[in-house]
Amino acid sequence: MSTLNVEVLQNGSVNNGDSIELDEYDLSRADNFSRAFDNLDSLYSPGRRSGCNTPMSHFGYGMMASDPHPMIAEAWDDLRRALVYFRGQPVGTIAALDSSDEKLNYDQVFVRNFVPSALAFLMNGEPEVVKNFLLKTIRLQGWGKKIDRFQLGEGVMPASFKVLLHDPVRNTETLMADFGETAIGRVAPVDSGFWWIILLRAYTKSTGDTSLADKPECQKGIHLILSLCLSEGFDTFPTLLCADGCSMIDRRMGVYGYPIEIQALFFMALRCAMLLLKHDGLGKELIERIVKRQHALSYHMRNYFWLDLNQLNDIYRYKTEEYSHTAVNKFNVMPDSLPDWVMDFMPLHGGYFIGNIGRSHMDFRWFCLGNCIAILSSLATQEQSSAIMDLICYPAIENHEWRIVTGCDPKNTRWSYHNGGSWPVLLWLVTAACIKTRRPQIARRAIELAETRLSKDGWPEYYDGKQGRYIGKQARKHQTWSVAGYLVAKMLLEDPSHLGMIAIKEDKLFKPVLRRSSSWTA
Ligand code: GLC
Repeated sequence: MSTLNVEVLQNGSVNNGDSIELDEYDLSRADNFSRAFDNLDSLYSPGRRSGCNTPMSHFGYGMMASDPHPMIAEAWDDLRRALVYFRGQPVGTIAALDSSDEKLNYDQVFVRNFVPSALAFLMNGEPEVVKNFLLKTIRLQGWGKKIDRFQLGEGVMPASFKVLLHDPVRNTETLMADFGETAIGRVAPVDSGFWWIILLRAYTKSTGDTSLADKPECQKGIHLILSLCLSEGFDTFPTLLCADGCSMIDRRMGVYGYPIEIQALFFMALRCAMLLLKHDGLGKELIERIVKRQHALSYHMRNYFWLDLNQLNDIYRYKTEEYSHTAVNKFNVMPDSLPDWVMDFMPLHGGYFIGNIGRSHMDFRWFCLGNCIAILSSLATQEQSSAIMDLICYPAIENHEWRIVTGCDPKNTRWSYHNGGSWPVLLWLVTAACIKTRRPQIARRAIELAETRLSKDGWPEYYDGKQGRYIGKQARKHQTWSVAGYLVAKMLLEDPSHLGMIAIKEDKLFKPVLRRSSSWTA
């Protein structure tokens, strides 16, 4: 029997000992699910529109197999109210409709936050806002980006932007982008460019409109984003080095190095770019570099980031200070650094991609987004994907560790915000991963649970506490991605063929060379 509560939505941190073993498969809609897989590969599968959950249809009710949940209409209203217009055209959605004084920067359109909104609009057959967003943001990429006197890389994409009334007399509007120069901690978003590429592929796949991706500015955008990440340097890892706070976890949280979120998004963006790039001079050269990097990256991730009982046992018995090519403990990880919780918690079946790996450093925290994206991009092999779904766990860092790791951040206290808080936006990612691994039942339960709370609690940004029972200490209400995440999850379950927009099948070229582990026979 499987049990599921809001922990399934929890974001990164140390486990409290609970894991969820899931052995239920709902094959009642097997035909729909098979269709979803058939649809993953090709770049285009236009014309599909979610018949039932659309705002139109829930006024008409005619097509519904069962009555739509009342939250759907409310969510669509919120999502539409969150739309931001620039010179008369919708270009994105603001982060939160919260009307409290403490808006901070939640009145901006964040690139990452817009993704679930964009997917909801695409699934509902409304691609215009997504197209406008993609074109506007790629134009912003061309801005000179300076922090104090330091110039950022050409390919850096903005974290967010907002519309300013430039000249109230002439009534002209301008866009104002933030590349990190006004963000707390002055952090630049490594994830933004990856999300942009992933969204461009989702748009192309859902509409069949290849002309957008083929535009010179979009091709150039992909080139610039990837050139930043594919450049060779001193690093001996194919993973992407990322400073703490430069990802979706946008403040100090001990994720300096090679965070799983960034590696999974990087891999997904590489795969999407392969489908979008034109095979012309520059494109061809980039494609060759992508193929090589994808190969090295998947090898590294599948071998070194993967953790299950066998792997943990090997690490526990590692020798240290090994030199030469024959070294088993290649990164000189000290077995003494293994946290007690991971030893106690690791179940017989199941596994996951850990949070980070560096020299003498393994961060065993379980991050939901990175693991879901690893499943959706097929960075995880089929066996690994199903092992991840066998083990959905969560963690938080406390006391002294919290002081050291976060720099005493009062927003990230244990079981809050980025430190083990529960984020409703993750609902769409969990649902998509469930569909890809053919475990829709898990998603169904998560959605049912969300339906008992989300609307009543005002669509908060995150929940606090081990069980996610409390509305987050500083959570904004009417957070747009909580709203959109719910809608996307509902539409995905209702029509699993939408999965093709955000998932890619395993590339036969990169068949894994892996040892068998206990979880593979699960
Ligand atoms: C928080 C999140 C970040 C998000 C922003 C706006 O800072 O960590 O990922 O983009 O809020 O919602």
